Amino acid sequence: MKEPEKTPQVLWAGRLEEKPDTEAFAFQASITVDGRLAQEDITGSRAHAAMLAGQGIIPEETARKLDKELAAIAGELASGALGLDPNAEDIHSFIEGELTGRLGDPGRVVHAGRSRNDQVALDFRLYLKKTIPALRSELAETITVLLDLAEAHAETVMPGYTHLQRAQPVTLGYHLTAWASALDRDRGRLADALERLDECPLGSGALAGSTLPLDRDAVAKTLGFKRPTLNAMDSVADRDFAVETAAAISIVMIHLSRFCEDIVLWASEEFKFIELAESYSTGSSIMPQKKNPDFAELIRGKSGRTTGNLVTLLTLLKGLPYAYDKDLQEDKEALFDSIDTAAVSLRIFRGMIASAAFNAQRMKVACTGGFLEATDAAEYLVRKGMPFRTAHETAALVVRDCIAAGRRSIAEQPLENLRERSPLFEKDLYAELEPEASVKNRKTSGGPAPKELHRQIEELRLRLR
Ligand code: ARG
Repeated sequence: MKEPEKTPQVLWAGRLEEKPDTEAFAFQASITVDGRLAQEDITGSRAHAAMLAGQGIIPEETARKLDKELAAIAGELASGALGLDPNAEDIHSFIEGELTGRLGDPGRVVHAGRSRNDQVALDFRLYLKKTIPALRSELAETITVLLDLAEAHAETVMPGYTHLQRAQPVTLGYHLTAWASALDRDRGRLADALERLDECPLGSGALAGSTLPLDRDAVAKTLGFKRPTLNAMDSVADRDFAVETAAAISIVMIHLSRFCEDIVLWASEEFKFIELAESYSTGSSIMPQKKNPDFAELIRGKSGRTTGNLVTLLTLLKGLPYAYDKDLQEDKEALFDSIDTAAVSLRIFRGMIASAAFNAQRMKVACTGGFLEATDAAEYLVRKGMPFRTAHETAALVVRDCIAAGRRSIAEQPLENLRERSPLFEKDLYAELEPEASVKNRKTSGGPAPKELHRQIEELRLRLR
């Protein structure tokens, strides 16, 4: 019998006589992507080795050596004293190769009862157990920035829009709290994803467990998982946890893209509601006057990547035969990119919004001229006993009268003209038509009245605690 080949750093050299074709080998290698799982891979191996010794599968003395060397490798990788070998096949082969290179035979026992299939599933989950909380913190900090601004602008009136047409007066604080509410649900979605993926796949082997007496509960406990996964085949075959995380992240980015679209509009000469800080703007190479909202645009643009990554993951899984297939290796690049994109986008977004100046004067002026007070006029009539549909028609006729008379708001229309449309109109109507009063009067739960808004802000702050 031929001795196993030692030259290539592959774990399967015993089976194949020919060395792999260089380009083909590089094509299937993944170290450039899964290299970022190095620490998780080592953490998993340390737990696995300790369990093997605990179960009498390997000698205690060997386990001690393995643990010491794995810890050393982890430290060297962290400090940069040891670099990843770009020619290694993947992070698992690299770490095992490093261990065997340093320890000789004792290094060769660590893979007992384990496959790279359950190993990679473990590493990926461990990585997400670390990264999802970090993303949730980025969201929390962003929500805090929005709520601080919302509090400061709880009485800064601005137009609220539907169909991008001025609809009813709201406040800037109210608009920002709408954004914060969306990001609050995003935190919840990420927490849900984390909750479901918090199961340890190690001990699943290639797909069907092991004849060795592995203690999966012990390993799960050591690694801080809630419990081991239930079914070994499922553990190595599925990546629904990656899809779920990518989906939650896609929604974060779609939210940010909408907020950024508002910001781009607000920064335009036409709106001029916001003045972005120079540190969060760029200029033009040809037009000397330009100050562009590139950061908002880029965040909006980057939401395309995260949507794409979600589609990549779903497509990867569709029709994939059970259990493990190498296609699954493509999962990490997509999700890593989504995680990186969302984390940096959240940071840039909150830096941009926190440093911006809002033009309260422009926002207030924009509350007049589009008959945003028409709904208030209709509800005024309803409060005086008129059926809503009639009140709606009456207020619409008032608006038409105003336009015909060249007036820019109902407040400019004399009472006698208003009373031609309904005798229910009285002098007290005019006070209600002011944007500030209009906002203050909409005290329904969820509404923009400053007092009610402060309640919403408090509730969102409470959820962050
Ligand atoms: N690099 C591989 C991945 O990311 C690790 C698992 C390889 N398993 C295998 N049977 N070739 O999926």
